Amino acid sequence: MTVPFDFSGQNVLVIGGTSGINLGIAQGFAKAGAKLGVISRSQEKVDAAVTLLSKHTDAMGFSADVRDYEAIDSCTREFSEHLGSIDVLVSGAAGNFPAAANAMSANGFKAVMDIDLLGTFQVLRCAYSFLKKPGSAVINISAPQAFQPMEMQAHVCAAKAGVDMLTRVLAMEWGLEGIRVNSIVPGPISDTEGMARLAPTEKMQQAVTASVPLGRQGTKDDIADAALFLASPLASYITGAILPVDGGWSLSGFSSLGNALKAKSPT
Ligand code: COA
Ligand code: NAP
Repeated sequence: MTVPFDFSGQNVLVIGGTSGINLGIAQGFAKAGAKLGVISRSQEKVDAAVTLLSKHTDAMGFSADVRDYEAIDSCTREFSEHLGSIDVLVSGAAGNFPAAANAMSANGFKAVMDIDLLGTFQVLRCAYSFLKKPGSAVINISAPQAFQPMEMQAHVCAAKAGVDMLTRVLAMEWGLEGIRVNSIVPGPISDTEGMARLAPTEKMQQAVTASVPLGRQGTKDDIADAALFLASPLASYITGAILPVDGGWSLSGFSSLGNALKAKSPT
């Protein structure tokens, strides 16, 4: 759709912004005139994302793991000192694999907790001093697992519930600094790694689509549009919100996916 927002003069840093939903968000801000930074582990993905974003705006990329505080601190600082500040921070790095709790090692559980939850804390903690001014916005990318239990997803449910609590607590702590903090909860978004992992067969994809009240899976643009709105002055009185952008999926359809994954699992 045509972008109705103008982010020219603003600096947007998207963590995990080199593929899927987060890259879609980065592209949305780039098309709206913002200067962009993206961070993820793979240098190859970082380079490809910067090439794509550079078609629209100035873009910088950094290879770092959100589990490594020093590395995130260093690239957040480099981005901010180069451009002067951060106006919008999107924290969306995440890991997922379907596994029953009793088929998952403690290290498997910890990997997802460390990327999704500790990683979000570290990213926000490192960015705070560069965000601290009226008009700044943080958007955490959550998931329906944050509030709806799902079989084969104990690690993700625990981690994303924590992410939404960070959203709420930091909205309170940072409100007087001028920083708004919100979560977006994407529903099933087509053509993404997340959906490929959670609904790996055509039959499961069709069942997911049929379980969405609006009758379709979401697009990356659907999530980008919501992110631009939440970061814009139109949302200037919205903080601490957990916003589902899911075609109504979380109202009823979501829970059937856990059953389907469990039925498919060899364990
Ligand atoms: N079932 C059970 N355990 C699994 C697993 C699976 N399908 N996949 C990984 N694990 C376990 C590993 O066995 C390991 O535990 P162990 O050391 O006890 O054997 C632990 O998870 C960490 O795995 P590792 O591959 O070392 O982690 P990593 O840090 O390289 O990768 C992941 C993290 C596992 C989350 C990986 O899937 C990833 O990088 N994902 C990013 C992309 C993604 O998930 N996108 C969708 C976002 S919704
Ligand atoms: P994706 O393409 O795999 O995106 C994940 C991004 O995070 C990648 O850029 C990845 O790049 C980066 N990343 C992963 N681990 C990292 C780490 N340790 N440090 C730094 N970066 C890391 O998946 P997606 O499906 O689009 O998901 C994006 C977000 O949306 C996630 O937060 C997910 O939970 C959420 N979500 C997705 C859906 C869906 O339908 N897909 C639904 C609800 C919520 P590298 O591999 O280079 O690190």
